[in-house]
Amino acid sequence: MMEWTDRHCRYFLRLMSRRTFLYTEMVTAEAVLYGDRERVLGFSPEEHPVGLQLGGSDAGKLAEAARIGAAYGYDEINLNIGCPSDRVQSGRFGACLMAEPDLVAACVAAMGEASALPVTVKCRIGIDDQDAEESLDRFIDRVAQAGCKSFIVHARKAWLKGLSPKDNRAVPPLDYRRVVRLKQRRPELEIVLNGGIESFASAELHLPQVDGVMLGRAAYADPYLLAEVDRAVFGSGETPPSRLEVLDRFVPYVETALKRGARLNQMTRHILGLFHGQPRARAFRRHLAENAHLDGAGVEVLERARRIVTGEAPPQAIAAE
Ligand SMILES: Cc1cc2nc3c(=O)[nH]c(=O)nc-3n(C[C@H](O)[C@H](O)[C@H](O)COP(=O)(O)O)c2cc1C
Repeated sequence: MMEWTDRHCRYFLRLMSRRTFLYTEMVTAEAVLYGDRERVLGFSPEEHPVGLQLGGSDAGKLAEAARIGAAYGYDEINLNIGCPSDRVQSGRFGACLMAEPDLVAACVAAMGEASALPVTVKCRIGIDDQDAEESLDRFIDRVAQAGCKSFIVHARKAWLKGLSPKDNRAVPPLDYRRVVRLKQRRPELEIVLNGGIESFASAELHLPQVDGVMLGRAAYADPYLLAEVDRAVFGSGETPPSRLEVLDRFVPYVETALKRGARLNQMTRHILGLFHGQPRARAFRRHLAENAHLDGAGVEVLERARRIVTGEAPPQAIAAE
């Protein structure tokens, strides 16, 4: 998710689940080809398994970007055909490509030839007034023919005229059954369901009908829900770390990143939800939000936030009142 699942976020999420597959923010093929490559593609080995999500519609550029992504060590290359923003439509990529299955197929084929990694596609069930039954089937069949065996389907249409990207993640109705029908019609394809799944419990309810579920906003707002995944979904015998253990394991990463020039709040902004629903979670968030952006802020801010959330230290603002 753009602006959200950067490398710091992914490192943090990985502390809660070894097996959950993580994705980068969408990166345009041009950014990979012409941008600051280390800034655009760099990631920590601990983040595996991690997929690189690309955006674009130029088969040649996407193929070259996929090749570079593979050389960087990503585990999968994903093509984003679900993003509805205007900026993305003007570059002719994202959800508007749901109407151009031949072009998407050409891109997928070129990406598949350029790297040995699996090439997957994230899409919607349709756009605007498309018939979500027929056009989704046609899209999937054509793109699967080009070599894509795995689709993540956001179970709502994108309405490209008149809705903001944010509204496009909430207003068009969710149709999970449409995604399940797709799985039934093409059982040999891997079909991952996405959209509006708000808890680990509801993710588990969908799992018997599809090959996987993708969580976006819920995993960001309440990241600790990932702590259950390895045990409940993948049958791991390991006890998940506690929230405090997650926090403690993040500190050395933060220290290293600070030494490399990152700012504290670039990392702490991703952990605000760690204590979601727990006592003193608000004071924890507030301490980070008020202090982590200050010049020279270091791990002492995190350590203080830890003492606030355990109740060992009073929240500063309350102490001053
Ligand atoms: C801030 C934000 C950024 C997003 N960026 C991307 C993106 O880069 N690529 C993508 O495929 N989807 C992106 N999405 C969409 C999500 O991946 C997901 O499909 C959508 O939010 C529905 O799933 P959810 O209800 O679990 O969040 C973004 C969503 C949000 C909220």
